Amino acid sequence: MNVTVSRKAHFNAAHRLYRKDWSDQQNELIFGKCSNPNFHGHNYELIVSVTGPIDPQTGYVIDMKVLKDHIKTQVEDVFDHKNLNLEVPEFMDTIPTAENIVVVIYDKLKKILKPNQSMEVVLYETPRNFVTYSEKL
Ligand code: NI
Repeated sequence: MNVTVSRKAHFNAAHRLYRKDWSDQQNELIFGKCSNPNFHGHNYELIVSVTGPIDPQTGYVIDMKVLKDHIKTQVEDVFDHKNLNLEVPEFMDTIPTAENIVVVIYDKLKKILKPNQSMEVVLYETPRNFVTYSEKL
């Protein structure tokens, strides 16, 4: 019997969607306003879900405090109030789209999982635009 537990988190960050090997004009054509050379920010919302069996001793799937602290050190402390393009090494050569950000976050967080647990990460870039990533076990 597997149960899913979820934790919400939040960070603010700036980014710019562009390719160095494209002209400003081509970047503007493909990425529109998100290619603004002066960057722009988003209020990112995160939902991290861990699925697994309930530990018979604790009654937990995962200790929420452990999950909360892990999200803080791995994601919030690294991304919050940062310029993703300039300050987060993973995005120096990877375009910081919501799709790429959610995969980077997943890879940072998955270290906490036990072999019988799986994880799903949902990242909201705006209240209406969100992406979901999980690796199949
Ligand atoms: Ni944007």
